[in-house]
Amino acid sequence: MTRILLFIVSLTALSRVVSAAQENVNIKIRNESGHRVILNWVHPQTKETVVMREMEPDPQRQFIINSFVHHKFQLWQAPDEETGSCGGDEDDGTDGDQTCKTSFFQVTQPEEQAFVITKDFHVETDIPPPAPNPVDNIDLSNLEDPTVVLEKCKNQAAKRLETGNNYEAVMKEYHICTTTRLTPAIKYINDEVRFERDIRIDASVNAENFTCTDPNIETSPDVRTEEWTSSVDQITRTAHIKLDRPTSRIHVIENFASIDECNAMEEEAQDSLSVASTADGKGGTTISLGRKAMQAAIRPKFSTDGEPLEGDLISQLSGRVYEYTNHVLGLGITPFGQEPLMSIQYFGRGYNDTEPDRYTPHCDGKCVGQKHIDGARMATMVIYCTIPEKGGFTNFQNANVHVKPSQGSAIFFSYIDPSTNMTDDGLTQHSGCPVYDGEKKIITQWVRYGVSSDVPHSAFNTLNVLKSNDGE
Ligand SMILES: *[C@@H]1O[C@H](CO)[C@@H](O)[C@H](O)[C@H]1NC(C)=O
Ligand SMILES: *[C@@H]1O[C@H](CO)[C@@H](O)[C@H](O)[C@H]1NC(C)=O
Ligand SMILES: *[C@@H]1O[C@H](CO)[C@@H](O)[C@H](O)[C@H]1NC(C)=O
Repeated sequence: MTRILLFIVSLTALSRVVSAAQENVNIKIRNESGHRVILNWVHPQTKETVVMREMEPDPQRQFIINSFVHHKFQLWQAPDEETGSCGGDEDDGTDGDQTCKTSFFQVTQPEEQAFVITKDFHVETDIPPPAPNPVDNIDLSNLEDPTVVLEKCKNQAAKRLETGNNYEAVMKEYHICTTTRLTPAIKYINDEVRFERDIRIDASVNAENFTCTDPNIETSPDVRTEEWTSSVDQITRTAHIKLDRPTSRIHVIENFASIDECNAMEEEAQDSLSVASTADGKGGTTISLGRKAMQAAIRPKFSTDGEPLEGDLISQLSGRVYEYTNHVLGLGITPFGQEPLMSIQYFGRGYNDTEPDRYTPHCDGKCVGQKHIDGARMATMVIYCTIPEKGGFTNFQNANVHVKPSQGSAIFFSYIDPSTNMTDDGLTQHSGCPVYDGEKKIITQWVRYGVSSDVPHSAFNTLNVLKSNDGE
């Protein structure tokens, strides 16, 4: 009787506190303590405890109550109904402890929360085990040759049709036969591919150091060679295709920039060169030894409809980058909202320099095979204006593509599949090898997809989060 009264009192008290428009939360409590448990609500002002429920030691049942953020509860081990004490029984050696154990927990987050009362009467957040992935439970001990499976399933279906079985039923059986028996083989192949890929990427880390420091390694062979004619200057240029995958392409284009265009860029850059920086993983930029170089940003001018300006060498060069990007990817990229051209200079201080100018392996965008993020980089053009005497090659370590550039040539690489927006998963990771002797001067244009005059590149931080959504 008293218990019921208390319960009613507790509900009334609860609803009074609750009316202050707090967030309603469902909490689940699982009792693994092996004891009967009494759940008390702790009044936030008076600290009085009010009994809410008694729980029997039944680990199967979950107890769900409706609560609110910041509410605090006390769990009290209920005394044995016969002895009236909380002493353990003599069999499990806990008989010395006569005190009833207590524990507290507080509702901390607005989502549903789950707690578990452990054997030693602690309350812990109950993290449910992840839902089993059916693919993980596929039995790989019984692999069948996929071609044999298809043949068997086909013959079985043909026989069943010949003996007058219902077409739809036979097709259903055929479907089950192929899918269930092919799944292990597909999983096995996927596991193998992942394993081989991990080994290849580990090995490429070592290979990058050797490849980068060996001046005698030649440019990798072409997969294909193409001619490309710019519709603006009508010049035909040769493109050496080094890698041609839907999400990952590497092209080396001969004579992409003229000496005059390079000189115009260098002149423009001279006064504003500063130490190069990289994305710091937190949305900003930082200066690191992994990227030693000087750089200057140059913003090319375009006509109001996005055409390169006649007689403006920098504008012409920048326009050619977008023209080539559109030639390869067909995404209709315009100069509006894009990043400026970047003039980057590396200086050689000899083989013994322990911190040579270089850019250690990195990706220009994200390269973990995810979907393109609106406004992110998806292609890069690196134009080689001055070639150093020793070093300074460009190495794509995971694609096994090495490029010893020539003056005026450019490397174009893209890291998006234009038909699906899926991005590269590591093949366009590259490094600017250390420069040992002489100067290396390049012009880089990063090309973004999803920017415009209204939402330009500068609206994003380096994690590609729109700054207006970024709390800045
Ligand atoms: C590659 O070279 C850099 C710079 O000399 C060095 O710090 C790094 O440990 C080397 N990595 C491997 C895997 O040898
Ligand atoms: C580099 O160091 C080696 C060994 O200390 C030395 O023999 C060589 O002369 C040095 N080379 C240069 C260019 O300083
Ligand atoms: C691909 O990305 C662009 C630019 O961010 C976006 O406009 C387009 O809707 C995306 N397409 C698909 C199929 O996701």
